[in-house]
Amino acid sequence: MRPVHLVRRFVRALWPGPPRATDVAWVESVLTPAELAVWRQLPNHDRRYSIRVARRVEHLLSGTRFADEPCWSAVALLHDVGKLDSDLGVFRRAFATVAGAVRPRLRLSPGPLGRYLRHDEIGAERLRAAGARDEAARWAGVHHQAERWDATGIPATVAAALDAADNS
Ligand SMILES: [Fe+2]
Ligand SMILES: [Fe+2]
Repeated sequence: MRPVHLVRRFVRALWPGPPRATDVAWVESVLTPAELAVWRQLPNHDRRYSIRVARRVEHLLSGTRFADEPCWSAVALLHDVGKLDSDLGVFRRAFATVAGAVRPRLRLSPGPLGRYLRHDEIGAERLRAAGARDEAARWAGVHHQAERWDATGIPATVAAALDAADNS
């Protein structure tokens, strides 16, 4: 992720408000009750962020043969639920992201920093345990590792859109 994206995300995360009611209604129409129960546990800034990513995915896939598949919006809404388990605030998350890029082995460390850096695999486990759709768990588990996208069975066009939306 480019530094400008990290800074923009950081600034947005400082705004404390909930997502708009119309956006929440859209999320409720896209997610299953089991998925919604997980999504609702996210703090406000994570819910707002997940909506931005999912809306972008919807936009990027419009005009493709995946345009009428709300499944991919659901996958986007749920891709970062593993961050729930790290319990890191906005400032420590920013530090963890930079530290993890400099020292990849920090991913293996116990404690909140390591859990944050492993939010992909933790999120996948959380989604499987909750009974979320399989695609959501598969994407959550690999979304930061492009070399593993092929093995998920998620179409390359969709994976590219999910990634672009996450990093714009
Ligand atoms: Fe992530
Ligand atoms: Fe993300």
